[in-house]
Amino acid sequence: MEATYMLSKANDNHSKEGKVALITGAASGIGECTAKLFAEHGAKIVVTDIQDQLGQGVCEAIGSSNCIYVHCDVTNENDVKNAVDTAIATYRKLDIMFNNAAIMHPNKDRIIDNEKTDFEQVLSVNVTGVFLGMKHAARVMLPVRAGSIISMTSIASYIGGVAPHSYMCAKHAVVGLTKNIAVELGQFGIRVNCLSPYGIATPIATNALGLDAEGVENMMNSFGNLKGVTLKVDDVAKAALFLVSDDAQYISGHNLFIDGGFSIVNPSFDFHVLSVIVTGIFFCMKHAARVMIPTRNRSIISTVSVCSNIGGVNSHAYTYIKHAIVSLTANIAKELEQFRIRVNCVSPYGMATPTATYVTVLEAEVVESMAKLSGQKEPKFNY
Ligand SMILES: NC(=O)c1ccc[n+]([C@@H]2O[C@H](COP(=O)([O-])OP(=O)(O)OC[C@H]3O[C@@H](n4cnc5c(N)ncnc54)[C@H](O)[C@@H]3O)[C@@H](O)[C@H]2O)c1
Repeated sequence: MEATYMLSKANDNHSKEGKVALITGAASGIGECTAKLFAEHGAKIVVTDIQDQLGQGVCEAIGSSNCIYVHCDVTNENDVKNAVDTAIATYRKLDIMFNNAAIMHPNKDRIIDNEKTDFEQVLSVNVTGVFLGMKHAARVMLPVRAGSIISMTSIASYIGGVAPHSYMCAKHAVVGLTKNIAVELGQFGIRVNCLSPYGIATPIATNALGLDAEGVENMMNSFGNLKGVTLKVDDVAKAALFLVSDDAQYISGHNLFIDGGFSIVNPSFDFHVLSVIVTGIFFCMKHAARVMIPTRNRSIISTVSVCSNIGGVNSHAYTYIKHAIVSLTANIAKELEQFRIRVNCVSPYGMATPTATYVTVLEAEVVESMAKLSGQKEPKFNY
């Protein structure tokens, strides 16, 4: 396995030494982890970031014989040019460029609350930064007709509603850039790809969501499609390692999802919820009726929810299912009235039971205060 993705076999005639990789935003999170993993697999690393102390620490951890640190604000073309030129001056080549640096602001649901300056700042780091990385990597890769450029995007490159508007827009743009540059550079043997991870507990996520690392992981695990595993930075680093290795030599223009299938699932159609709730109640009604009809004068009740009557208070699946139980109740009530069997349902408001604490990933006390607050406050989208 290790030998498969080694980065120590040079893919050109200039050197027998390890491949050289420049990583932006490598002082923290995924970038830091990838820098260490690439180094373990034989690469020389140029760690770049604006957090100089942290970046130098990553370099020290890798070892100065295999790593240098260069300050590089990806929004500044001179910084990007200098980082690439320093890689060439130090290691004589650049095999791998990883455009990883990005920022995200806390979410503001309504576009009318979003400031132009914040929007432009995100695009400047997350899109212009990637464009500059691609441009200067291409400048030094073109003469040797070899190289691999990867850029970090996100599940927000594909589906809506999972990140702030600016971040969503930027991550879609990185896919566009990847495709266009892959087409342009393919004739020179340079591969261009991007990666789309699901949410991970790194500073960009903890800061934007206002949660600690455990809170982010709980939230991601709760909404994630693949259960029993938590996405970590090294899962993304390993995917990056594969993409830049010679084992991926025919992969270009690709957006590699590391999301446990999250982006292909439509949570509105949750057949598991459908089968547990509606089918379960249907079976209970059926078998209760079977034994009640001969004796007559009986009662069947089912629990639904306030969302059986109003929208916007729960997930799509849960809401249409609770509506379905009301219809089932009405139909069975009509059928069983001749046997004097009453059929009703009850619709409680939110309570701190395990179902509510599991779905909201909140403690019972928080669910209760949320329910109290929601009972009083104005609607969320109050224009
Ligand atoms: N953590 C997640 O949930 C998640 C999910 C999908 C994609 N991503 C993407 O992964 C990449 C890495 O993020 P992370 O999760 O490791 O977060 P992180 O906050 O740990 O790392 C981001 C790094 O980018 C650096 N940076 C910010 N602005 C910069 C600038 N102008 N110039 C140079 N460096 C700058 C930061 O200093 C930091 O070291 C980002 O592109 C992010 O959008 C993250």
